[in-house]
Amino acid sequence: MASDLIRELDELERSARERVARAGGEEALEALRIELLGRREGRLTAILRRLGELEPADRPAVGKRGNEVKEAVTGLLERRAEELSAAGPAGPDVDLTLPGRRRWTGGRHPITQVIDEIHAVFRSMGFVRARGPEAETDWHNFEALNTPLDHPAAAPGDTFYLDEGVLLRSHTSPVQIRTMMKHEPPIRILAPGLVYRRDPWDPSHAPAFEQIEGLVVDEGITMGDLKATLAEFARRLFGSETRTRFRPSFFPFTEPSAEVDVSCPFCDSGCSTCKGTRWLEIMGAGMVDPAVFEAVGYDPERYTGFAFGMGPGRIAMNVFGVPDIRMWYEGDTRFLEQFA
Ligand code: DAH
Repeated sequence: MASDLIRELDELERSARERVARAGGEEALEALRIELLGRREGRLTAILRRLGELEPADRPAVGKRGNEVKEAVTGLLERRAEELSAAGPAGPDVDLTLPGRRRWTGGRHPITQVIDEIHAVFRSMGFVRARGPEAETDWHNFEALNTPLDHPAAAPGDTFYLDEGVLLRSHTSPVQIRTMMKHEPPIRILAPGLVYRRDPWDPSHAPAFEQIEGLVVDEGITMGDLKATLAEFARRLFGSETRTRFRPSFFPFTEPSAEVDVSCPFCDSGCSTCKGTRWLEIMGAGMVDPAVFEAVGYDPERYTGFAFGMGPGRIAMNVFGVPDIRMWYEGDTRFLEQFA
């Protein structure tokens, strides 16, 4: 009967009041909470389970009283917990000299910090972030980027294949292809992400690492735009005195291509970071090869563009003076928290 259940609820609240007041510590309080309010076997649950035996019309009143009792007992438990903790540790067996419990605060990984800084600089120049899948087709990763599949980079010794024609992307350049297939110019993107190569696990190689790809396409984009943009980027990232040097190079997807160096931000006369050369290589870049525009269906007579790619993990090694790339990936919080 409804009145029986209500009486039991009243009794539950009354006895809770006494017993909570007498609970002498956190553990006793928690045991009491489980006994009274535990979801599965608590007394309140046991009473409310019997709601189903009542006439439907009687149920709301009992349910309502059940909620009141639950709130009241929860309040009692909370207040008693506060009292106990305000009273402080009691008794001689509490060692007040023990160090406190340490609370961990998360932090951004140092490579993420570098990516975010790089992104902030390019965002202020109007670049937006773009993404692509890590499992790519060999067409997006190689062929559309003017790299035939018999190129050494496409060999199974260098690239992880998942299936016929499907691989773990070996660079972020396929994001260029996906972006151009989806959008018409003007394009100004920055695409950070993980890439995979069958490289050894040694101080300067890891089989998975970060890259950041950039791409600008419009009518009338020139090598001058490439140089000015990347020189400004270097000054904003490494300091206003930073100089930039473009050395001729080769990439299948750019023509002409360059390696971009910045004057060593850490010395004037040669140091261990720049290995005495006073220059640090920070990225590869170049003017988008017309063959790439053809692959994505852009008119190479109408559009020109530039692209660049860099490794924020290597930049972070230089910036933070870390000698071994593997340290970024070993997940040793004693090492990583220095950068938080
Ligand atoms: N994809 C190149 C690599 O993985 C990096 C790169 C070089 C990207 C030149 C570019 C570029 O967009 O223009 O080594």
